[in-house]
Amino acid sequence: MSKTILVTGAGGQLGQCLKQCAPDWPQFNFIFTDRGQLDIADKAMTEAWFNKFAPVDYCLNCAAYTAVDKAESEPKRAFAINRDGVAYLAEACRKRGVTLIHFSTDYVYGGHSNRPLTEDDPVQPAGVYAQSKLEGERRALQINPLTTVIRTSWVYSEFGHNFLKTMLRLGRERNELKVVFDQVGTPTYAGDLALAVLTMIEAVESGKTSRDLLSGVYHYSNEGVASWYDFAEAIFELAGLAVKVHPIETKDFPTPAARPAFSVLNKAKIKAAFGLEIAHWRVALERQQTYKVSKTL
Ligand SMILES: NC(=O)c1ccc[n+]([C@@H]2O[C@H](COP(=O)([O-])OP(=O)(O)OC[C@H]3O[C@@H](n4cnc5c(N)ncnc54)[C@H](OP(=O)(O)O)[C@@H]3O)[C@@H](O)[C@H]2O)c1
Repeated sequence: MSKTILVTGAGGQLGQCLKQCAPDWPQFNFIFTDRGQLDIADKAMTEAWFNKFAPVDYCLNCAAYTAVDKAESEPKRAFAINRDGVAYLAEACRKRGVTLIHFSTDYVYGGHSNRPLTEDDPVQPAGVYAQSKLEGERRALQINPLTTVIRTSWVYSEFGHNFLKTMLRLGRERNELKVVFDQVGTPTYAGDLALAVLTMIEAVESGKTSRDLLSGVYHYSNEGVASWYDFAEAIFELAGLAVKVHPIETKDFPTPAARPAFSVLNKAKIKAAFGLEIAHWRVALERQQTYKVSKTL
């Protein structure tokens, strides 16, 4: 029987990429909800939604407060969504035996490592956004045993606000730009993450992967390593924009929230469990659609 997948926060980058993928996965019945239809920070609304629309087999929680710097001045709102909202959703899922796949961030790590981080590495969130996301993953895992947390990094897509779109806009306005080179991680195309999650569910539903493996914490990003400076250089090269990019240090570009200096994620666990093949970040950047629509961005 066709499995039903609820996607919350469907208007965001990941949610919209899932929507784009959905027609290629006819074996799944998708329900996409935005904040107006299902506000995860509203406990009563969340319960009411499940009472009205259940049964659901999987819930992909793409709803999040993602304004990293703004979170420093509105922590209540960040925690209400990223911690409490996730807990309400986890509780609604637990009561009905729904598998929750929740997304979290590389920012939960302190950024002081010099080797790719594994899921067991110690967390040390700096800043409100990172703390609220860590609390959210903890609540979800505590409340619903059928929870998978996927920590990802540097997400971009043709949708919403992201580094790629900012660079393309600035690149058309300016000949020179300064970009930090001492923060190192890996860009993740949201479309690749969307595909990976559906592949994971399919692996479990087809019996290729044990259902038991759909629990706990996993990492997902594209492959490879980059600084924001490298990422900007690649964006301009692929877009054919002649922009001189100057590498600068984080101290010369202060932001309200601190960013980890190093957050490259080791993906060995997710690849082994679900047989995923992951593209290099530059290949993913080249492949995705933003350049084709960039004239309208
Ligand atoms: N973006 C990144 O670089 C990045 C990096 C690492 C991890 N992540 C994580 O990856 C996940 C997906 O990120 P994304 O880039 O797709 O985020 P996004 O584009 O900011 O989308 C988040 C979506 O959640 C919605 N939302 C906010 N509060 C909500 C609520 N109370 N109820 C229902 N929906 C709500 C937002 O709607 P409104 O527009 O109405 O607010 C928005 O559509 C998030 O968990 C994020 O923390 C992102």
